[in-house]
Amino acid sequence: MKVLIYQTQAAAADCVAGLLADRLAHQPDAVLGLATGGTMESVYDRLITRYNAGEMSMGKAQSFNLDEYVGLKPDHACSYWHYMREKLFNHVDMRPDFAFLPHGDVADATQEADRYEAAIAAAGDIDLQLLGLGANGHIGFNEPTSSLTSHTRIKTLTRSTREANARYFDAFDDVPRLAITMGIGTIMRSDEIVLLAYGEGKAEVAAKMIEGPISAACPASILQMHRKVTVVLDEAAASSLA
Ligand code: F6R
Repeated sequence: MKVLIYQTQAAAADCVAGLLADRLAHQPDAVLGLATGGTMESVYDRLITRYNAGEMSMGKAQSFNLDEYVGLKPDHACSYWHYMREKLFNHVDMRPDFAFLPHGDVADATQEADRYEAAIAAAGDIDLQLLGLGANGHIGFNEPTSSLTSHTRIKTLTRSTREANARYFDAFDDVPRLAITMGIGTIMRSDEIVLLAYGEGKAEVAAKMIEGPISAACPASILQMHRKVTVVLDEAAASSLA
């Protein structure tokens, strides 16, 4: 595990955008694994800037997002489909037919999860996976106690995750209780993983992920077993490291 610590959030986001742009420069048709959430917004801003400057193209890439809430239609303002269009896809040359997320509004979410897992495998698995870090150690929506070898499936969100994400919804009760998420095993099959976390609120969990025992109690700790993972932190998120 390579751990890079930057003084500021901005420098950390620059680094992650640079790693993704480098991968696309060397492998324009890379299969990208993308994340949502507050942290990733700064990365997507920088990718848009690079695209507008003619420094990067996503025109040959494919992407699979980590997760989607069960029950939300793709045009729901809080869906991750909507987030990705607003924060990235509408502003770069990503082909809409090459950008995939699970569908949360299907009749059978288990079948949808299986279909999504099969689609990732059929694409040859993820080349570069971007991850944020939940304050409880989740990656994707693989909450604590998730199987460390899991595939894409439905997960029940913890109260703390629903509280953390309630800022995007009108009310806490509107936050869905279930999500379809890539599994930890799915994520671990990626060729390369880049995780970005910043702020004091992530310091304790970042230390558990990097220095703690590998345990389903902190799903991100499994990344210690991946052969090509880069963790990018700002100084605040790195402040609990030994
Ligand atoms: C998002 C996702 C989550 C977030 C994590 C951090 O697709 O899968 O694991 O990356 O919850 O979210 P923020 O960046 O909002 O703190």
